[in-house]
Amino acid sequence: MKKEFGRRSDGVMAYQYTIQNESLTAVLSDHGATLLKLFVPDAAGNVADVVLGYDSVEQYEADRDTYVGALVGRVANRIAKGRFSLDGKEYALAVNNGPNHLHGGVEGFDRKVCRAAVSNDALFFYFVSPDGEEGYPGTLRCCVQYRLDEDNALHIRYRAETDAPTPVNLTNHSYFNLGGEAMAHTLQIFADAITENDETSIPTGAMLPVAGTAFDFTEAKAIGRDIGAQEQQLKFGNGYDHNFILRGEGMREAAVLRSAESGIAMAVETDCPGMQVYTANFFGDREGKGGAPYSNRCAVALETQSFPDALHHENFPSVVLRPGEVYESETVYRFFTEDV
Ligand code: GAL
Repeated sequence: MKKEFGRRSDGVMAYQYTIQNESLTAVLSDHGATLLKLFVPDAAGNVADVVLGYDSVEQYEADRDTYVGALVGRVANRIAKGRFSLDGKEYALAVNNGPNHLHGGVEGFDRKVCRAAVSNDALFFYFVSPDGEEGYPGTLRCCVQYRLDEDNALHIRYRAETDAPTPVNLTNHSYFNLGGEAMAHTLQIFADAITENDETSIPTGAMLPVAGTAFDFTEAKAIGRDIGAQEQQLKFGNGYDHNFILRGEGMREAAVLRSAESGIAMAVETDCPGMQVYTANFFGDREGKGGAPYSNRCAVALETQSFPDALHHENFPSVVLRPGEVYESETVYRFFTEDV
């Protein structure tokens, strides 16, 4: 189902699309390939929208901080000082987050107008990022597929090809609240270490074991339980805003988020090496969908990704895509309910 979402400030009409199966309904927009709504059943059989968002395209355009629900790229997360060299050439990108480059720059993929194609339970968004856009080299052709499966899951698949070497790291920036207080949700993360950050949230290159720290989510615990711990890493992020190094490789379970209030649980599966856990530490007070009051820590983003600032760390998996190669990645949000 397709309908008008609203006119963007550049005059382009943004559309919203609904895909649906017996259990799930996802509403998406071609503005930034954004996930606007995701309805899932709770333990009582009611339907709940589990992602944050806004009612209008104007609100999405006006928000330059949260990336709520959007596709993020060309390189999600930070690049130190907005500079990198690739094959001996220097590149300068927008510095839009303190001293660093964040989430693709000033006009990142979260603001792209995509071409959409619907097929049964899946929706495809296509767009081209021209050579030089936001300072990145190479023309990048991208496709993001959102698909619902019969096992209560939303699949997001990314595919990109380039005509010149360029870094690529795509994610979706949905913030989840499965019901009640987000900080009371329990979270389990299949990660034994995080990449250590400096005070500007750029990795130092060190990998910090989570054992014995507030970052130990190897057993499920309330997200808020240790968020106030006197740990340097938490102070740098004003809470959790860190890349967890996921165990194993290939498609695997990365995390499980649960709300005891609604009985909704969500498993995250991905083939990405890392996942940024961001507890909306700087969300601020704002009005979301249907007048919902949003504030700091009202939800959690679980952004599957390659490691931040990988271009500057030889020991991190490479984010460089070369002509002839295909960037492919998939993340699945799988829902189930538990008795409350
Ligand atoms: C996260 C990032 C945070 C913050 C957020 C958007 O991915 O790690 O520091 O910038 O996006 O508000």
